[in-house]
Amino acid sequence: MTRQALLVSVLVLATSVWVGGYVAIVVVARTATATLEPAARVRFFRSLGRRYLWVGGPALLVALATGAVLLRSHEWDLLLIATAAAAVALLLLLALAVGQARRMTRLRRRSVDDPANTRLTRQVTGAARGAAALRGVLGLFTVALVVLGACLATG
Ligand code: HEM
Repeated sequence: MTRQALLVSVLVLATSVWVGGYVAIVVVARTATATLEPAARVRFFRSLGRRYLWVGGPALLVALATGAVLLRSHEWDLLLIATAAAAVALLLLLALAVGQARRMTRLRRRSVDDPANTRLTRQVTGAARGAAALRGVLGLFTVALVVLGACLATG
C-alpha cells in the first residue's frame, strides 16, 4: 500500500465517522424527543454530546489534517483558498455549537426544574431555534467541504 493510498483510506474513514455521526445524532435527537421525558432527555443529551465530542471532534481533525497533507503540493488557487476557509469556518462553528449546546443544557435544566415559568419556556424555545440553525449551518459547511474536496481531488 502506498503512502497516498493510506492517507486516502484514513481521510475516507475519518470523514465517514464525522458525517455518519452527524446524521446518526439527528435520528437519535428525533427518537429522544419522541420517547423521553424532558428531564431524562436533558441528561441523555448531556451524556451523548460530551461522549460524541471525543469521537466526532478527533475524526474531523484527522479528516482535515489528512486532506491538508494530500493537498500540500496543490497550488494556492481560489478553490484551495475556499476549501481552507471552509475548514477553518467548520472548526469555529463546531466550537460555537458546543458552547451553545452547553448553554442550552443549563437553560433546559432550569426550565425542567421550574415548568410553570412561561418566560423561561419561551426563552428555551427561542434558544433551541438558534441551536438548530447553528447545527444546520454546521451540516451545510460539512457538505460544502466534501464537495470542495472532491473538486480539488478531481480537478
Ligand atoms: C456532529 C457534531 C456534534 C457534536 C460534537 C455535538 C456535541 C454536543 C455536546 C458536547 C453537547 C453537550 C452539552 C453539555 O455539555 O451539556 C451536545 C448537546 C446537544 N446536542 Fe449535540 N453535537 C453535535 C451534533 C448535534 C446534532 C446534529 C444534533 C441534532 C440535530 C445535536 C443535538 C443536541 C442536543 C439537542 C443537545 C442538548 C442541548 C440542547 O438541548 O440543545 N447535536 N452536543
